[in-house]
Amino acid sequence: MLQGKRILLVVAGGIAAYKSLELVRRLRERGAAVRAILTRSGAEFVTPLSLSALTEDKVYSELFDLTDEQEMGHIQLSRDADLLVVAPATADLLAKMAHGRADDLASTALLATDKPVLAAPAMNVRMWEHPATQANLETLKQRGILFTGPNEGAMACGEFGPGRMAEPAEILAAIETALAASSRLAGRRVLVTSGPTHEAIDPVRYIANRSSGKQGHAIARALAGLGAETHLVTGPVALPDPPGVSVTHVESAEEMLAACRALLPVEAAVCAAAVADWKVESRAGEKLKKDGSAAPALVLAPNPDILASLSEAGNQRPSLVVGFAAETQSLIENAKAKLARKGCDWILANDVAPASGTFGGEENEIHLVSAQGVEDWPRMSKEAVARRLAERIADHFEGGKAA
Ligand code: C5P
Repeated sequence: MLQGKRILLVVAGGIAAYKSLELVRRLRERGAAVRAILTRSGAEFVTPLSLSALTEDKVYSELFDLTDEQEMGHIQLSRDADLLVVAPATADLLAKMAHGRADDLASTALLATDKPVLAAPAMNVRMWEHPATQANLETLKQRGILFTGPNEGAMACGEFGPGRMAEPAEILAAIETALAASSRLAGRRVLVTSGPTHEAIDPVRYIANRSSGKQGHAIARALAGLGAETHLVTGPVALPDPPGVSVTHVESAEEMLAACRALLPVEAAVCAAAVADWKVESRAGEKLKKDGSAAPALVLAPNPDILASLSEAGNQRPSLVVGFAAETQSLIENAKAKLARKGCDWILANDVAPASGTFGGEENEIHLVSAQGVEDWPRMSKEAVARRLAERIADHFEGGKAA
């Protein structure tokens, strides 16, 4: 199970650090390669030499160590791993992670990574229960950081309660679960559309909409996070290309459809793009001049429906086609009608009435509508929606829970 897997272990400063040595031993026994980052305070509890002897590798500590950076830059450290494990995860390191700080090698590697991260917190019970730590924990969970422990019991500081780091055997089990989860969609090819489309009026002007592409990009990231070979076709957005995803940039709906067709066959397609319903049929080859007498009238023509077209793609049809329904009223009825009209398998219905703050915002409230019925998801971040959808897609392919 762990044979050939690469773990980047971050050991921060806590008395529980001694247990991390045992964890390394067990990981190595199971065939995993372990590379360790030891924080400055971690080195007060375990020595670089013990860690290095057990990992059979050099131990990394300094962000600005010239030799380290030349041999193995901090970005490369996380790039080379299948999973990052933080054990012990101190209150301080969790706070840094939650706030995106990068002032040493450990926090920088954790900020720079796009790999799954599992943390095993260890701290005094009061520190654990402090609202600041609990708020950081919530933030990190929302972002998909995985946790194991802490356990309850007598602590080195003489107090009793939650705060003890999980035992090496428990961390090991959590590592196996995390690695299995990150390959649930391995070997499956999926397509995601995202962002708005731009429909040209003339060479310099266009019609657009307010879609940010946040949801579609997050879905592509989440699918890639489960190991899928992910292809993203995106309209113009102000977002970076998600790591580990192959991205095609397009402008118009027609270009988006052509790019999607060129990527078939895929096993699943998620159409999250806000495709313009109309293109400008009266599109001018030259820039329209305002010196004429009347304002020009735009003649619009319908755009192709990408979701419907993928749903009708005959023997090229993805076995799962997922669309979105952004509605401002009668959400579920409209979503059911859309499911039938477009011929797709699932519709994720969401309320985009101005008061909902969905468009361009950070959160979404989803109802998954399928032939099997309606599933109401709680309001959550677009990242969390993306992860939940990716898990549901994995369930679907594993023949598990139907939507
Ligand atoms: O028809 P409506 O725009 O409400 O449908 C929304 C769903 O259909 C979304 O999944 C969107 O990505 C998809 N769609 C499409 N091509 C269009 C219009 C919508 O793929 N031309």
